[in-house]
Amino acid sequence: MGEPLIELIDVRKSFGAAPVLSGVSFALEKGETFVIMGGSGSGKTVTLRLAAGLIRPDSGQVRAFGRNLERLSEEELLPVRRRMGYVFQGAALFDSLTVYENVAYSLREHTDLGEAEIRGQVIRFLGLVGLNGDVLSLLPAELSGGMRKRVGIARALIGAPEVILFDEPTAGLDPTNAKLVVELIEQVHAGVCDSSIVVTHDLDLTKTIADRVAILIDGRFAALGPVGGVLQTHDPLVQAFLTGEAR
Ligand SMILES: Nc1ncnc2c1ncn2[C@@H]1O[C@H](COP(=O)(O)OP(=O)(O)OP(=O)(O)O)[C@@H](O)[C@H]1O
Ligand SMILES: [Mg+2]
Repeated sequence: MGEPLIELIDVRKSFGAAPVLSGVSFALEKGETFVIMGGSGSGKTVTLRLAAGLIRPDSGQVRAFGRNLERLSEEELLPVRRRMGYVFQGAALFDSLTVYENVAYSLREHTDLGEAEIRGQVIRFLGLVGLNGDVLSLLPAELSGGMRKRVGIARALIGAPEVILFDEPTAGLDPTNAKLVVELIEQVHAGVCDSSIVVTHDLDLTKTIADRVAILIDGRFAALGPVGGVLQTHDPLVQAFLTGEAR
């Protein structure tokens, strides 16, 4: 195995007095889908934001593409972040921008492409997530929840990231739309981006896509490994969490 694409080593993070992460370690290998599960408020989004260099650890190391992010300035972080696509929890599109402008955003910010090329890329990536040109001029408020997720995924993919970070990609969707998003993630892994970290409550999603899974409980990974092994772990906290999730 080569060097991990992303690695957290004994990362700690508190907000005020309350510790959220108290020693989290994992490594994402190239070609791998690494899933992080945990209860609401357990620190899943915080972990993903640390991995993306959006926030800094109190201690420990966050490495991405061979560099220690906690040592980089904001300016030095920008090209590293560009190598990752981030699908935010709840899709988090820019409400005042059309679908076209939302998806085009990173190309406008980070490339010198002309309008015709940008348009071509936007249409290509919307097509990839199963949306056609009819949605280009719509605002996020005019889309269904499932469509918003798709636009969020297209926006994350358009910069040709080496890693994609998904925060709760199926949350809030009905079973049909959740299944479509799962299929879309599998399609992304088979095609444009084969390495990802996925944060989710969704045990079915985990069983379908995970190569390895980690369960975040009380600021640490209570279990980490291939899905089959983790689901059968005897740790009572892990079993209690999984039983609760599966209900
Ligand atoms: N910027 C912040 N300032 C203060 N507290 C924060 C901040 N970000 C996160 N927290 C706190 O850290 C804890 C973990 O938050 P996080 O968003 O990572 O949870 P989560 O596991 O993603 O939950 P959910 O499943 O509900 O999305 C929460 O108690 C939250 O209030
Ligand atoms: Mg979250």
